[in-house]
Amino acid sequence: MEIFKEVEPIRAFLDFKRRNSVNSIGLVPTMGALHKGHLELIKSSKKENDLTIATVYVNPTQFNNPSDLAKYPRTFEQDVALLNQAGCDILFFPSNEVMYSAANPIKIDFGGLDKILEGKFRPGHFSGVGLVVSKLFNIIQPTKAYFGQKDYQQFQVISSLVEQLMFPVKLECVPTVREEDGLAMSSRNLRLAPEMRLKALTLYNSLQLAKNLLLDGIEMTIVREKTINFFEENQVKLEYIELADRKNLISLNFVLDPKDSILLISGYVGEVRLIDNIFLV
Ligand code: PAJ
Repeated sequence: MEIFKEVEPIRAFLDFKRRNSVNSIGLVPTMGALHKGHLELIKSSKKENDLTIATVYVNPTQFNNPSDLAKYPRTFEQDVALLNQAGCDILFFPSNEVMYSAANPIKIDFGGLDKILEGKFRPGHFSGVGLVVSKLFNIIQPTKAYFGQKDYQQFQVISSLVEQLMFPVKLECVPTVREEDGLAMSSRNLRLAPEMRLKALTLYNSLQLAKNLLLDGIEMTIVREKTINFFEENQVKLEYIELADRKNLISLNFVLDPKDSILLISGYVGEVRLIDNIFLV
């Protein structure tokens, strides 16, 4: 695997490849601390493209909480080993100086989508995501880019970015990869002590309980009460549980059509903030 840290060398390399029979480039943006969820995105990209590029960059502008940024796990050597094993062709691993040379990073307003759910609890988060993903699209100019359903709202925000700024890239949303007991794989799970790891399952278990209640016709106000109690019993802090329309993430109180619905949740297990979501069918 070739590793690049600067913009011009990777651009020159990719230009050369494009002139020499590489027709499709798949991009997998990550913040490192890689796990099987990330590797599933690499696998999908490898299936569908001549060349696969992963990026590892812990993007400061998307962290609204400085201690979350400071404590974000960094496992570079292991990431390189995993990417090599997965057959990734290129790794882009830039520094903050390379990615943010301008003094005042621009902000992106997604017109509402960035203010609900995650955006409500992480102000500025999606602006930072949109900015860094735009930079990566412009540097790499991928044919396709791969994101996880685990961060479903992020996928919607990036879809809006691509549509509105007319990036010539096709987006793919890859289903969430889970541990055997159901916990969604996440880099932040590395920060969970063993007893916290057990409590972390409260998120997935709540989603399953809520789904069954909703499909029985129970409304969300009641489901939310039950979820709050379930979280209290497990000594985990619930931030939100929302039923929403899969297309625009607008909140719903009832399931109108299970095919169009998604349940999203976030909470703090100790000081680690986790998110998850499931489709209703
Ligand atoms: P990160 O959290 O490292 O995730 C990188 C990609 O992996 C995202 O598209 C995320 O949805 C996907 N992913 C994470 N856990 C997954 C799982 N269990 N199953 C399937 N896919 C999973 O998301 C980011 O980084 C950043 O916001 C980024 C897009 C790189 C911009 O900085």
